[in-house]
Amino acid sequence: MPTPRVVESNAAAVAALCAGGLVVLPTETVYGLAADASNPRAVARIYAVKGRPADHPLIVHIPSEAHLDRWVRDVSELARRLADYGWPGPLTLVLPRSSEVGDWVTGGQDTVALRVPDHPVALGILRDFGGAVAAPSANRFGRVSPTTAQHVREDIGELLDPDRDVIVDGGSCQVGVESTIVDCTGPQPVVLRPGRVSQEQIAEWAGVPVAPAQSTAPRVSGSLASHYAPATPVELAEGVAKNPGPSATVGLIALADVETPSGMVRLTAPADEDEYARALYAALREADALRLDRILAVPPTGSGTLAAAIRDRLTRAAAGSAG
Ligand code: TXA
Ligand code: MG
Repeated sequence: MPTPRVVESNAAAVAALCAGGLVVLPTETVYGLAADASNPRAVARIYAVKGRPADHPLIVHIPSEAHLDRWVRDVSELARRLADYGWPGPLTLVLPRSSEVGDWVTGGQDTVALRVPDHPVALGILRDFGGAVAAPSANRFGRVSPTTAQHVREDIGELLDPDRDVIVDGGSCQVGVESTIVDCTGPQPVVLRPGRVSQEQIAEWAGVPVAPAQSTAPRVSGSLASHYAPATPVELAEGVAKNPGPSATVGLIALADVETPSGMVRLTAPADEDEYARALYAALREADALRLDRILAVPPTGSGTLAAAIRDRLTRAAAGSAG
């Protein structure tokens, strides 16, 4: 099966969006699968390609904060502050939606998730397009998010339409894990998904403390117990035993100061949490490519926001392996 064209110019990507096609778009966090947010048929194809349940809402990407008023009903002081400080950036704000936002984007919810990505290619395309694009991570539902265009080709290349859809290759994503999602519908911000932007940072920008998340039904698919899972089973460990035991082929994901016991395959040895986040998804995919029997992951123990985000994703990847 032919896969879609890789395009260099913003104009080709904008043309595809205008024609109702899908655009694989690099952002600073992970690659997105983008469609014109105001085109229900184009957005429906995102769900079809991803295999995503229709009630899981998408993130809407806009060119700048100036576009907030079009998509949001009554922009609150809290939303204004977080957008002012955090955009462009790896921060998604959940806000009351305006009548411009269709049910096809929000899964029928009365809120919309918005973000301005901090990536020159994504921003350039958004500015030239002038509207908003709905873009979830460009992977099949529940699987590992892509951090290179090649990951996207491998995952969903054959599900895209070579006549309508295009891929924009922007190299490797800088952050490597998805944006921090903040519910701004109440008086205090609530973090729905941890990411590069920390709770402390959000509280400082907001001028009010962050409220604890309620454990209600998941409104965020990334908050499902099982998500971000490779095909290879993932096991979490605090350290690595000297003897890896039976002769299964085990892949190791851990910071560089953790040594690789003989017989294990080192998938990545990041020097710090930033590098860990950037390398994580490629390492999970590498285990699948090598057909390893399992992955042993030693999450970072630090108190940094990326350490928390990495632990969150690895815990869910491990839960995805359990069944
Ligand atoms: O970094 C990112 O956020 C990437 C890049 C492409 O921007 N996008 C991303 O999209 O991770 P996705 O669809 O894989 O995850 C979006 C999350 C989902 O878990 C979804 O449930 C949540 O955002 N979400 C969207 N609209 C929401 C809403 N109205 N209320 C609560 N959560 C919402
Ligand atoms: Mg996703």
